[in-house]
Amino acid sequence: MSGIEGKVVVVTGASSGIGEATALLLAERGAKVVLGARRPDRLAALAERITRAGGEVAHASTDVRRREDVTALVDSACERYGRIDVLVNNAGVMPISPFDALRVQDWEDMVDVNIKGVLYGIAAALPVFRRQGFGHFVNTASTAGHRIVPNQAVYAGTKHAVRAISEGLRQEAGDRLRVTIVSPGMTRTNFADGVTDPETKARLTESGDSIAMPPEAVARAIAFAIEQPADIDTGEIVIRPTAQA
Ligand SMILES: NC(=O)c1ccc[n+]([C@@H]2O[C@H](COP(=O)([O-])OP(=O)(O)OC[C@H]3O[C@@H](n4cnc5c(N)ncnc54)[C@H](OP(=O)(O)O)[C@@H]3O)[C@@H](O)[C@H]2O)c1
Repeated sequence: MSGIEGKVVVVTGASSGIGEATALLLAERGAKVVLGARRPDRLAALAERITRAGGEVAHASTDVRRREDVTALVDSACERYGRIDVLVNNAGVMPISPFDALRVQDWEDMVDVNIKGVLYGIAAALPVFRRQGFGHFVNTASTAGHRIVPNQAVYAGTKHAVRAISEGLRQEAGDRLRVTIVSPGMTRTNFADGVTDPETKARLTESGDSIAMPPEAVARAIAFAIEQPADIDTGEIVIRPTAQA
């Protein structure tokens, strides 16, 4: 199936930012979207907005740190719609800080959500895609998966890992499954809210406010990869504000 209309697309981290913008755009273009994140109130509000606009949507409270939650999200999409065409592994956290701050819990959160969450998504959807004989993973990495800067080493490490895992998956996927990495630069979302180091948070908020791009720009990049014909696999899209160094 080419295009977006009628595709069943599961999006993790759909309650805000890039995931929310992606859900709205894909639903507007005729996809059936199945949304996961930890905040059910935000998911319900988004689902209502999509339904009111004539879209098709389901949602489930999902913590990607829990394999059973991710499996349940994918299974619920299969039960409701009979298949899944795309899994957008988008949930991510970015509590960055200098190493000297020793915010070990933040390091663990980034590994658990950004790396293991994506792996749980792969574990949930890969058998479904194999059975169906088609399927598309879209994994959100970052420009931090290309370029390492001070205070972002652990986050960058997780996003390098997402790129490595995605490329390895692409090589193993064969000629019927697609794997796309989307690597956004600075995007205007709620991302800085999760930064626990006050100085880093202030710096990030300031730079984000001045040059960040809207999450809709990333949503359009994700839509581009999805709408390509089934025999065209967009390997990676790097998208950043023009002003980002
Ligand atoms: N903003 C940027 O500048 C930027 C740049 C490059 C890449 N990215 C990547 O883009 C992706 C989306 O981030 P965003 O910028 O849109 O930030 P955001 O607005 O903070 O959105 C993050 C999303 O992830 C969800 N999430 C966090 N922890 C989760 C968990 N344990 N289980 C399930 N969902 C979880 C959040 O929902 P709940 O809190 O409701 O669970 C939220 O929906 C991330 O992978 C991030 O690394 C962002």
